[in-house]
Amino acid sequence: MSEQSTEAPEPQPVLSPLTAAAVFLVLTIEPGGEDTVRDLLEDVSALQRSVGFRIPGGQLQVVAAIGSDAWDRLFAGPRPAGLHPFRELDGPRHHAPATAGDLLFHIRANRMDLCFEYTTQVMARLAGAVQVVDEEHGFRYFDERDLIGFVDGTESPSGSAAVKAAIVDADDDPDFAGGSYVLIQKYLHDLTAWNAISVEEQERVIGRSKLADIEMPDDVKPVNSHVALNTVTGPDGEEVKIVRANMPFGHASRGEFGTYYIAYAATPDIIELMLTNMFVGRPPGNTDRILDFSTAITGSLFFAPTAEFLDDLPDPPSGAAQVAADAPAAVNVSPGNGNVPAGDGSLGIGSLKG
Ligand code: HEM
Repeated sequence: MSEQSTEAPEPQPVLSPLTAAAVFLVLTIEPGGEDTVRDLLEDVSALQRSVGFRIPGGQLQVVAAIGSDAWDRLFAGPRPAGLHPFRELDGPRHHAPATAGDLLFHIRANRMDLCFEYTTQVMARLAGAVQVVDEEHGFRYFDERDLIGFVDGTESPSGSAAVKAAIVDADDDPDFAGGSYVLIQKYLHDLTAWNAISVEEQERVIGRSKLADIEMPDDVKPVNSHVALNTVTGPDGEEVKIVRANMPFGHASRGEFGTYYIAYAATPDIIELMLTNMFVGRPPGNTDRILDFSTAITGSLFFAPTAEFLDDLPDPPSGAAQVAADAPAAVNVSPGNGNVPAGDGSLGIGSLKG
């Protein structure tokens, strides 16, 4: 980064409010694809303006985040202090797998067309440089409910509490102040089993009422409820929070009903502690009841650097040019069934192109 600024670094839009639509795009970088990825990263916010400006009020917000292994392939210099590969968890009953991921694009808007067009532009730019691990389309389900019918996100902090929870502080990691750690996991729900229990039992699984979304009093809330196990306090006894932006996804005809879990935090430690509580148990063995109905099928950790970092990337690691030169020609991998649009990558809808 060439210029030093005295102002607080500008985070990417990690704290933007919940939207009606989102695309979660997870990619790995092909050997030799690093330069192409770097070029795209520098244009993340310009692309957001290009796509988003066409729909005033569409609220297109994009966060690009980088995985631990990819970080060293893309950048020389220091790395975010807490960045490491996702730590798989094997509890007495439940497993949290680690899955591949060099890049995450969290693309949010009030309309899916904006998310889709942005994804299309990204994939056109990255064609040949990446492999697609996962592309999931999330949607709003009634009043911010997940597909198990509970309002999801109520206790996720907002305002200055969200900044404290999700944004790296200059005192903790001066080189990466303003950034944020991002952890994703895809969960599939067994709705047949879930719907076979009563609403009262479901409420004891979550720790809140279903219709009115009110938290149970502590003396009523089961210790293995989702809310109880995700209430975590710091050394000073104060509750520590993370910022969550979960979205439902699925394919009703295939019986696939999911929650795309995505959490932003100033340190991965808090999210990992919550995951340990859920999968290993607090105390060990007292695992989260939600996991009797919901199975984690992916898990990756990323770091979302500041907007300034992306606009003005540090140099690539030395020897990167040689690696690029030595690498075999990258395979052209495209999303879905392989139809990356030609040319500028736009589908042309709404464009003035002939
Ligand atoms: C199957 C996936 C999940 C579903 C359906 C789900 C759903 C919910 C719901 C309905 C609530 C209560 C309302 C709210 O405050 O948002 C909640 C709270 C919460 N969840 Fe999850 N969640 C899932 C996974 C996770 C995971 C993996 C973590 C952490 C690693 C987590 C952390 C939290 C936290 C911190 C709260 C707030 C607790 C509080 O302060 O009251 N959730 N979740």
